[in-house]
Amino acid sequence: SQRKPIVAGNWKMNGSVELVEEISSKVLSQIEEKASLIVFPPAMLLSSAIEKGFVTGTQTVSENNSGAFTGETSAELAKQLGAEFSLVGHSERRSLFGESNEVVAKKFSKAQENALTPILCVGETESQRESGETEQVVAEQIKAVIEHSGIASLSNSVIAYEPVWAIGTGKTASPEQAQAVHKFIRDMIAEYDGHIANELRILYGGSVNDSNSDLLFAQPDIDGGLIGGASLKADAFLSIYKSAL
Ligand code: G3H
Repeated sequence: SQRKPIVAGNWKMNGSVELVEEISSKVLSQIEEKASLIVFPPAMLLSSAIEKGFVTGTQTVSENNSGAFTGETSAELAKQLGAEFSLVGHSERRSLFGESNEVVAKKFSKAQENALTPILCVGETESQRESGETEQVVAEQIKAVIEHSGIASLSNSVIAYEPVWAIGTGKTASPEQAQAVHKFIRDMIAEYDGHIANELRILYGGSVNDSNSDLLFAQPDIDGGLIGGASLKADAFLSIYKSAL
């Protein structure tokens, strides 16, 4: 496909100033034009990561512009610092911080209003998969954004499919399982707009490591990955990035 792959590292609430330095010194010299590498460090490390030369994003953004929202991350300030992306609706934000599809849709549009490219995270839980609800759950998560911002908004975004049961568990979706959901997502979006569907990068996340990334990224509708644990290890992250080249 013509879609340029993305390998994104979500550090979650991990990492340090030292880790920014270590990963930048081992990885940044290896970046090629063929695939993008993005890191999502904790907000407090954003400036250090940008200074070292990483393309960065925030792990979430507030749906509000500014004001009395103690502890929140402002899309406008993130942009001012030099961030280019934001994750929205990561499963940990949904489950631990109560973000509904509607709130996630507002965050998606707040990111875009501030010229951050949102990476919309979607995915089913284990029990939803077992009861055959995977497609319905993922479709609802995406439709909430389409209803709020319109289908055209997806042309300036990325989707990350992350089955909740695969996140941090070591239980990666098989390449076939992941490909099936990625294709479902692309087909669903093609019902609104074929061009947007064809251009949209859809990343896989959930226990990606340097031994499963090759096969996952080789699937026709998988355009790279959103990497958690393995993005904290320079060697593993670099070798996952190389799988996308
Ligand atoms: O955002 C990243 C995902 O939650 C995947 O995390 O690679 O540690 O399973 P993981």
